[in-house]
Amino acid sequence: MTVQESRLNVQRLQEQDRNYVWHPLTQHQAFQQGASPLIITGGEGAVVRDIEGNEFLDAAAGLWCVNVGYGRQELVDAATRQMSQLAYYPLTQSHPMAIQLSAKLASYLPHVPHFYYSNSGSEANELAFKAIRQYWKQNGKPSKVKIISRHRGYHGTTLGALAATGQPGRKRDYEPMAPGFIQVSAPYCYRCPFHLTYPDCALQCAADFERRIQIEDPDTVAAIIVEPVIAGGGVIVPPENYLRAVAEIASKYNVKLIVDEVVTGFGRTGEMFAHIGYGVKPDVVTMAKGLASGYMPIGATAFSHEMFEAFIGPVDSGKHLRHVNTYSGHPVATAVAFANIQLIENEQLVSRSQRMGALFLGKVKEALKDVRWAGDVRGKGLLVGVELIQDSSNAAPVADSFMRSVAKYLVNRGIIAGKATDVEANHNNILMFAPPLVITESQISQLVNAVTDAIIDVGMGGV
Ligand SMILES: Cc1ncc(COP(=O)(O)O)c(C=O)c1O
Repeated sequence: MTVQESRLNVQRLQEQDRNYVWHPLTQHQAFQQGASPLIITGGEGAVVRDIEGNEFLDAAAGLWCVNVGYGRQELVDAATRQMSQLAYYPLTQSHPMAIQLSAKLASYLPHVPHFYYSNSGSEANELAFKAIRQYWKQNGKPSKVKIISRHRGYHGTTLGALAATGQPGRKRDYEPMAPGFIQVSAPYCYRCPFHLTYPDCALQCAADFERRIQIEDPDTVAAIIVEPVIAGGGVIVPPENYLRAVAEIASKYNVKLIVDEVVTGFGRTGEMFAHIGYGVKPDVVTMAKGLASGYMPIGATAFSHEMFEAFIGPVDSGKHLRHVNTYSGHPVATAVAFANIQLIENEQLVSRSQRMGALFLGKVKEALKDVRWAGDVRGKGLLVGVELIQDSSNAAPVADSFMRSVAKYLVNRGIIAGKATDVEANHNNILMFAPPLVITESQISQLVNAVTDAIIDVGMGGV
């Protein structure tokens, strides 16, 4: 292709994008005025390449999912093999890859060894809610229907998962929400909703679940759902003993505990699953994203044996799970997920995430310690958040326009980062990083330098 032909090809794709593609979380006006999104055509490791050949360090791993990095031939081979052998069959019967993947996942999650597959994190959470409501009905507690989650937590985009989401910005204009979903406070130490300091606070954020369960009446509460670390809501890392305290409250009031590992699973926080590091055994665990590192769409809902057993009965008892997805346990998706977990194991990416995450957090904290627009810097493994504030004497969040300028500056420096978007009015001030777990030390230095420059330049009004 000549230079001119390739220029025309780029222009044609940009025009077709403008005309035909509706992008998530995006205002299209700038596109109509001639701007274009990045059109990404390839990638290796933590780097992606656009249609014009520009390279970007993808510090967001797509949407926080490409854990093993881009360009992994092992996953291509697994998909190709499976597609030529058996491209599709539903899990109303069975097939070898769904069985092998389930046995592999059960080796990490012996407390929740029964897996129902879906295509996304939202669907994984929808099923958790449905199955738990059915469980309580089958156990003589039909009024246990309410699901309690947290402010700033994110559980998905479908109407049930959105109702469980504690982000008013995501719900706006889509009301009314599904009834029966309630939010309590987040374990947000930097902006403690109780104006207290850990550990003197005695974990009032966890106690908020107990207060709410008592107010509602435990007989009406079905489940609590939490992310081990609130991810898209601003990388909110709880105190070490918070999740255990929540699990104890759930158990005390006979409420099921769902842990949403959609972001935190598969090494992201330096553990294969974050809840295991926090020492809790939930009744249900949901996962997606890193399950196949984004190479195929797949989610899963993992249930305890006690929950699974409650669905066993005579064939006409009506006790079976009446929930089906056409693509649940898709052979190609399960084959890729299995190969993906093997890669994570063979390359010890979980411990790498812990090591590189500590390196990244240490470097970014050091680089930003005297930058007046940098507030709290926090993280766990390769999941890191930086709060941008108006001034160090005043932790007021910067405006959304400041965040957009930082993100744009970073793209111009060849870095793709995440930022809180449509979480809460005037409080979307967190820059977020979840790079592929294969990110290198020199890429971390590149990232820290660019982020520091971006914040200072935008703060000084330079962009
Ligand atoms: C914690 C959490 N749960 C659930 C979801 C929903 O997953 P999906 O976008 O695959 O539906 C997300 C997506 O970002 C998430 O971050």
